[in-house]
Amino acid sequence: MLKDKTVVLGVTGSIAAYKAADIASKLAQSGAKVLTVMTGSAREFVTPLTFRSVTGQPVITDMFDSQSQFSVQHVSLADMADAILIAPATAQIMAKLVAGLADDMISLTVLATKAPVVIAPAMDHNMWESPVTQNNVTRLRARGFTIVGPGKGHLASGKEGWGRLEDTEKVLGALRMTMGRKGDLLGRRFVVTAGGTQEPIDPVRVITNRSSGKMGYAIAEAARDRGAEVTLVTAPTALAQPVGINTIPVNTAREMNQAVAKAVLNADVLIMAAAVADYQVASPSLSKIKKEATGRLTLELERTPDILGETKGSFLRVGFAAESEGLVRNAAQKLKSKALDLIVANDITQADSGFGTDTNRVVIIDRAGSVEALPLLTKYEVAERILDRVNALSKV
Ligand code: C5P
Repeated sequence: MLKDKTVVLGVTGSIAAYKAADIASKLAQSGAKVLTVMTGSAREFVTPLTFRSVTGQPVITDMFDSQSQFSVQHVSLADMADAILIAPATAQIMAKLVAGLADDMISLTVLATKAPVVIAPAMDHNMWESPVTQNNVTRLRARGFTIVGPGKGHLASGKEGWGRLEDTEKVLGALRMTMGRKGDLLGRRFVVTAGGTQEPIDPVRVITNRSSGKMGYAIAEAARDRGAEVTLVTAPTALAQPVGINTIPVNTAREMNQAVAKAVLNADVLIMAAAVADYQVASPSLSKIKKEATGRLTLELERTPDILGETKGSFLRVGFAAESEGLVRNAAQKLKSKALDLIVANDITQADSGFGTDTNRVVIIDRAGSVEALPLLTKYEVAERILDRVNALSKV
């Protein structure tokens, strides 16, 4: 969604300014045109050359540079911006924005723009917790600005507390969410599941699978980025909790079943991307199972609830089928037996798709029998294509 969008990145004078170079780089890698604006104090921490190098675009530092196409005479930056991201944002810039000051290129641009604004504060924790700053944050939120972070942890002052610039992924998630607020899924309620469930054998051991959760998280984020209200029911993964998504962590298929049953009560769409265990241990041991010197250990397994099969309601239902043979035939059968609207079939024998990878090659089959084979795409792109199909179906 950032491709060919113009993002104005405001960098202000916090030690976290060096981290803004990573944000700028990731934005540029996503295809955005990044125009960096730096305050004088930001330039004390990091040079404009860094940003020019990672974005391939000019860096704006001077309001009165008559040579610059972005000078104050024409507030062109404010007009060109599809979004403005201020990262890191000091207490000072937030106070200026609240007051409507326009004496530096960032505050001037924000005052003059109609584009969405995202602010990632970074400062000492006493400054962050000061009632003045907190009041300013409330007022900026009331103006519709998104505030992401700060995080908690080690601060440059040597202390621990709230004030760290939020992680790049979260800052970019907040930006994408804010830019997508008026997207084509505005107001639609999605429930998405992700990850591989873990079925206990005893207090320390589980039966699980190789699902990374990446496909489900990509769907949840892509739906959020198009304005949907998203609940993500997730089995354990190594992925960070996404910004702006109601995330419900679960461990087992049974827990996922309960969480999904509750979440779908007022949902428009259920997308089951989770790799749900088909079997659970019939009676998990309450204490750690001791190993014996010889012989075998037999575990008795029983079926888990079929979540898709059991959840009923008037929402659209999308399932996944991970297959190692007869991809389309088996997926089409599942679509029928689980009464789905769409099924997304994955050939898990291919190295570049399926479990753990960042890319996926899938076939989408709908209830009318049409079969759409997609090329190799990133999981986010696959998510977009699934959402396009969901959107079209829900209009029928
Ligand atoms: O039958 P199979 O497990 O291959 O079906 C896959 C689809 O069903 C996936 O969307 C998966 O999330 C869902 N599923 C489920 N409950 C289970 C097992 C799988 O909802 N117990």
